[in-house]
Amino acid sequence: MGAKDDSAATAAVATDVVARDDRGAATLGGVPLDDLLARGDWGTPLYVYDLDGIAASARSLVRSFEGYPHLVAYAVKANSAGPILRALSAEGVGADVVSGAELELALACGVAPHDIVYSGVAKTDAELDFAIAAGPRGILALQAESVEEIPRIEARARAAGRRARVSLRINPGIEADTHAYIATGHDEAKFGIPRSEIGVAVETILAADHVDLVGVGNHVGSQLLVTDEYVAAARMLVPVFAACEAAMLQGGRPPLELLDCGGGFGIDYGKGCPVTPADFVHAVVRDLKRNGPAHARIVIEPGRSLVGAHGVLLATVVMQKRARPSGEERRWLMIDAGMNDLIRPALYQALHRVEPIEAPEGEGRASYRVVGPVCESSDDFGAHELPDPPPRAVVIRDAGAYGFTMASAYNGRSLPTELFLSEGRVAWVLPGGDPRAWIASRTGARSAT
Ligand code: LLP
Repeated sequence: MGAKDDSAATAAVATDVVARDDRGAATLGGVPLDDLLARGDWGTPLYVYDLDGIAASARSLVRSFEGYPHLVAYAVKANSAGPILRALSAEGVGADVVSGAELELALACGVAPHDIVYSGVAKTDAELDFAIAAGPRGILALQAESVEEIPRIEARARAAGRRARVSLRINPGIEADTHAYIATGHDEAKFGIPRSEIGVAVETILAADHVDLVGVGNHVGSQLLVTDEYVAAARMLVPVFAACEAAMLQGGRPPLELLDCGGGFGIDYGKGCPVTPADFVHAVVRDLKRNGPAHARIVIEPGRSLVGAHGVLLATVVMQKRARPSGEERRWLMIDAGMNDLIRPALYQALHRVEPIEAPEGEGRASYRVVGPVCESSDDFGAHELPDPPPRAVVIRDAGAYGFTMASAYNGRSLPTELFLSEGRVAWVLPGGDPRAWIASRTGARSAT
């Protein structure tokens, strides 16, 4: 199992979404970020996203199928903001959800039930009921992650008097070369049906009167920087699809429809990324055109690659601390964003670029340890070269995926506000948490008795 951090990539594919205007100020989607802060309406820490950039990344991914039957099911966990879900849905993108709440949200944002797949190892009965009841035929596929889940789905479908559309998520037994916490396709992972149990899964489905097997799928891991494991995982699905389909047809059941290759396309966190999302699609489509089932529709579940680069976290510099604990001078730059706002550095040792929002005042540069206010040593965004004297505010880049969605109120910190840019202006605001509401809720003013 790999234990690399995001910064280990080599060759570069340019994704320079954050640019500099003629004053030298950082811009996103053409909007100067210092202007947003100067307006003062929102404060910091502040997430800012470029909806047009997100829509463009979805458009180019959809196009990369070149007419091959497909569904791009956006992994909502990467960023569940309504303006983003609506922008993606307008590009013909569906959703990959992992909870009843994400499913309800996707539906509320206009994603059609037949464009939604639902993964998750421990879906509750209430969540299964909701997915089975959605739309005229339920959602596109409930992805069963264990044999044990199949009778549970059968029972809920029977109780609802409906048929459930189920896809088998297979654990491909492939070790993806990525951080151990986000590798999901190896034998020790809790995800997916082991290959040795596919036969039992098929028999269990044939014994279930209210379940239709509509596909097979897998997901090897996230932040993949080569296509090899992804293609290998898709390739192992081909005989599984054929065997499952043969068994279904023999049992008088309908043919399979979907071959779901999962998500995981890596992005450039500053040290380069040798592959684009289209490279994964081209590699898989090329392979399936040669060896795949002719009638299968490919499903992919990208999250990070659609939104990651198009979101930034803005933070105000609170102060600088200088000390010589062992002779050599150390500098810390204390900012008002912390690991509760963006946990990726603390959890995966990820290095996000930290840059000044405004043009530096002089030529001076210094190396700072950029840290947040949270009382944990892991509340640390890493070492960064920044202007000396320090900037007033910084932009933390590539924070559009797994940023806000993983944020918490740890240390009594409010969830940050989110701004959504389109056509050079602020098109949406999702207000962050209110400290007064947090204090009131923790005070326990209303007791249960
Ligand atoms: N499909 C399945 C079944 C998944 O488990 C995931 C991610 C995706 C799709 C989307 O993967 P993506 O295209 O975004 O790589 N919090 C971590 C990433 C966790 C990924 C979990 N599963 C991080 O910040 O790196």
